[in-house]
Amino acid sequence: MSASEPLLLGIETSCDETGVGIVRGRTLLADTTASSVPEHVRYGGVVPEIASRAHVEALAPTVARALSDAKVSIGDLDGIAVTAGPGLAGCLVVGVAAAKAMALALGLPLYAVNHLAAHIAVDTLEHGPLPRDCLALLVSGGHTSLLRVGDLAAGDYQTLGTTLDDAAGEAFDKVARLLGLGFPGGPLIDACARTGDPSAIRFPRALRGAEYGYDVSFSGLKTAVARWVEVAQVTPATPLPVADIAASFQAAVVDVLVERTLRATREFGITDVILGGGVAANSRLRAVLTEQAGRRGVRVRAPRPALCTDNGAMVAALGSHLMSRGVPPTPLACGVDPSAGMSVPGDGRSAAPHRWHSV
Ligand code: KG4
Ligand code: ZN
Repeated sequence: MSASEPLLLGIETSCDETGVGIVRGRTLLADTTASSVPEHVRYGGVVPEIASRAHVEALAPTVARALSDAKVSIGDLDGIAVTAGPGLAGCLVVGVAAAKAMALALGLPLYAVNHLAAHIAVDTLEHGPLPRDCLALLVSGGHTSLLRVGDLAAGDYQTLGTTLDDAAGEAFDKVARLLGLGFPGGPLIDACARTGDPSAIRFPRALRGAEYGYDVSFSGLKTAVARWVEVAQVTPATPLPVADIAASFQAAVVDVLVERTLRATREFGITDVILGGGVAANSRLRAVLTEQAGRRGVRVRAPRPALCTDNGAMVAALGSHLMSRGVPPTPLACGVDPSAGMSVPGDGRSAAPHRWHSV
């Protein structure tokens, strides 16, 4: 780490985590998170209004904690990065308003960034610069995308496939609720599946085969699990094999994601895959993808699980990457874009991670 590298503070408020990260160049100095998850548990999902209010309360103390963890003062910062989309509108507004206030008060450049691009960029903190042409599998509670990434800073990326219905994490959360495991479901299913048999129940793998392209669909799988549970409950004397169901469901999700990813590496001759998003913390996904890719000479990079779920470090990492590449900062009159993707709808162009509409 060199003191001449820029010191970036990143703010993430797109969903239920208030994340503040501080990086110097590609060195992580602080990653501080306040979560409103406990406030959503009784609803079995994130309630946007509750999440927005929690961000308002948590943001200033989380910034203060991150500065203290990083042992830097606010006056040392060289730039502010913030998630401007995709995400929950009210939640994004809290983070973007705070980031603008800091940028204005401190006279610093603002980088309003794409949450999905940040999930990719965070890997640079642990594994160095991104390979020039790679695939990114982004799987989280709100999105499931397979992307071909040329140059993140130049907005050179292309969406190969996405989900036609539920996001991968959403499927984990819904199935966990069905099995009475709690919320958020991903880590609970992951833990429960460790004692189950992944081949106990053959759940469907939808849209498998090159003729379907790279899109995925998880709603049929979710329904198949619900039907299986319904039928099993007709004989209530036998306890529900929750671990086997969790393991078999998880195996189906992982099979689908691994098949798409490896097929894309073959089609495009790509040898590097970056895994990102909350579901990238899944132990089976990491293990199976790494093992099967390895056999084909494909390298898989995945941030440590704590950096896969939403956090401020990923936003700071992308801001730092953009700044180091000389990308112009975002105008202070920028807005948020709750449904931002990684492509500009309609014309097939890529949307750079820092290009936002003015309001
Ligand atoms: O990236 P993230 O923190 O937030 C969004 O941008 O959505 O992802 C949260 C999602 C939740 O659906 C959660 O259940 C899932 O990631 N998740 C997991 C695991 N850890 C978190 N899913 C499967 N296995 C895990 N270990
Ligand atoms: Zn996310």
